[in-house]
Amino acid sequence: MAYQDVYQSWKKDPEAFWLEAAKGIDWVEAPTKALFDDNAPMYEWFSDAKVNTCWNAVDRHVENGRGEQTAIIYDSPITHTKREISYVELRNRVANLAGALRAKGVEKGDRVIIYMPMVPEALEAMLACARLGAVHSVVFGGFAANELAVRIDDCKPKAIIAASCGLEPGRVVHYKPLLDGAIDLAEHKPDFCVILQREQEVAELVEGRDFNWHGFQYGVEPAECVPVNGNDPAYILYTSGTTGAPKGVIRATGGHLVALNWTMKNIYNVEPGDVFWAASDVGWVVGHSYICYGPLIHGNTTIVFEGKPVGTPDAGTFWRVIQEHNVKTFFTAPTAFRAVKREDPTGEFVKKYDLSCLDQVFLAGERADPDTIVWAQEQLNVPIIDHWWQTELGYPAVCNPVGIELMPVKLGSPSVPLPGYEMKILDEDGNELPPGELGAIVTPLPLPPGTFPTLWNAEDRYKKSYLNTFPGYYETGDAGMIDEDGYLYIMARTDDVINVAGHRLSTGGMEEVLAGHPDVAECAVIGVSDALKGQMPVGFLCLNSGAGRDNAEVVSEVVKLVREKIGPVAAFKLAVVVDRLPKTRSGKILRGTMVSIADGKSYKMPATIDDPAILDEITDALKTLGYAS
Ligand code: COA
Ligand code: AMP
Repeated sequence: MAYQDVYQSWKKDPEAFWLEAAKGIDWVEAPTKALFDDNAPMYEWFSDAKVNTCWNAVDRHVENGRGEQTAIIYDSPITHTKREISYVELRNRVANLAGALRAKGVEKGDRVIIYMPMVPEALEAMLACARLGAVHSVVFGGFAANELAVRIDDCKPKAIIAASCGLEPGRVVHYKPLLDGAIDLAEHKPDFCVILQREQEVAELVEGRDFNWHGFQYGVEPAECVPVNGNDPAYILYTSGTTGAPKGVIRATGGHLVALNWTMKNIYNVEPGDVFWAASDVGWVVGHSYICYGPLIHGNTTIVFEGKPVGTPDAGTFWRVIQEHNVKTFFTAPTAFRAVKREDPTGEFVKKYDLSCLDQVFLAGERADPDTIVWAQEQLNVPIIDHWWQTELGYPAVCNPVGIELMPVKLGSPSVPLPGYEMKILDEDGNELPPGELGAIVTPLPLPPGTFPTLWNAEDRYKKSYLNTFPGYYETGDAGMIDEDGYLYIMARTDDVINVAGHRLSTGGMEEVLAGHPDVAECAVIGVSDALKGQMPVGFLCLNSGAGRDNAEVVSEVVKLVREKIGPVAAFKLAVVVDRLPKTRSGKILRGTMVSIADGKSYKMPATIDDPAILDEITDALKTLGYAS
């Protein structure tokens, strides 16, 4: 079938389409229908079914003869370690871990936070929660104690599973002090913590609260898979919104299984048994869907890569892993390719490896710039597929569906909507715009299975953030256009979210931290264009009159503060002191205009600007940082 046939078959009868896809899953009680719309616009999928995620990702493959197949390859150029875990081993390890968690009181519906680096135990912890029907929330290791504390207070975990440390090139990330700090800061206290002691650092355990990963599993009864309802949450994953309070995206179990399983063949073009590699981190949605669940549900071999595109040890790491582990489909962020390209523009490292196993490469997480795509096409000689999705959606919404049909690649476009989506471009009043015109990107409700039914503890925020502006539609928060052939182009965010090295960050969250500095009266953070990371945050500070402080000193203090409060991943390194911020007469800071100035783009003087002269001051300030030229 061609893409149009598949897409039209969904459009004609979505219910039949998703029930057909649901046949790829082992149900304890099969769904009698797919969509449950009694509570619209809060839609549910597969609610009358009973199922277990871990069974589908692990046990069923053992039952079906894949027990000896490698499920997880751990490849860590940072620690010089390689390890393979077969499906049968994975089943045993996960059943034991789940048994130990159960023995300490973790049950169906309980939340468990996982704060771990890129080690296979992170996936095992996720799967052990899934086995018990407990709801995990993985927190990215680059976040600081304060961010972890916010998440602890929001999802109120019964347990936290962490590692003693993570490893960044040249630096040990001391997870345990961050964890202890977060528990001190949080009002909610977990009943217990499980600590994976790594060779590189043995953490001190708190008597009675902390248990050693290995020791606490000793002598326990392995746990069986606990069936849950199709609409029960599988996990909560926090993502950045407009404010410093992250949004807890919920993933419902049944739809998650059905949709991810469907994508592995139809989008990523792999058959069970093939090796699939997503070079991301378990802390992001890509890690949830395509390091852990997607490949395992589909019976693939997945790779847990603890390294960086460059420097671990060189710009040939990706190609070494692809050759060595026979990777068929590779997924990374454009920023990673930009980092490799910067060090190896002519592909000298590529030439050292036999990449004949590689059939296609997928890019997501940020805009894939045409230069990077062309470079990758020339170096790798396979289709380089840009595709668009979000934490909220959980898997690709707009993509060139290689597994169905390789459509013509148009540089700068992630291509066409997949079943479940009908992207439209609306103006501010909700009118649909014709091809080629720029507006808000939306798709009609209901969102397909595997997306998010709501936000954890925040139904009103869910409606306000995504449903209320354009009734009947999901508002993506992105702006863009659609061309005459139905290809989508993503141009910008419509909110204060920025994308730094493929990491989604809130400028509002950074502003909250800057505003907390005692000498800062007012501030703004914008995302300026960056050749490597896509965007970089830049802060503007107005100091309290009479603060009498040296500007450079305050700047270095706020840089430190953001690192302490949000974490190194914010990559907040640039700030400047200004007298005033440009505003509209109603007091709204003109961040968009500041971004245009920083990027050296022409801009229209906002009609409502209070004092146009301030823009000259902002231009001068940006020039001191090397922007606005
Ligand atoms: N734990 C602790 N710290 C982390 C971390 C983690 N898991 N991940 C990143 N950091 C730290 C980095 O060490 C760095 O710290 P520093 O300020 O002390 O140097 C900081 O956060 C910023 O990291 P990053 O933005 O990743 O920049 P970088 O210069 O270290 O690396 C790239 C640049 C492009 C190589 C890197 O960003 C990369 O590999 N990006 C791919 C992104 C990706 O896979 N995204 C997932 C979405 S698909
Ligand atoms: P995240 O939730 O971290 O996956 O970030 C989602 C956001 O990243 C989207 O709303 C877009 O702004 C951006 N994004 C993701 N993929 C792409 C892409 N292929 N092209 C352009 N922007 C993208």
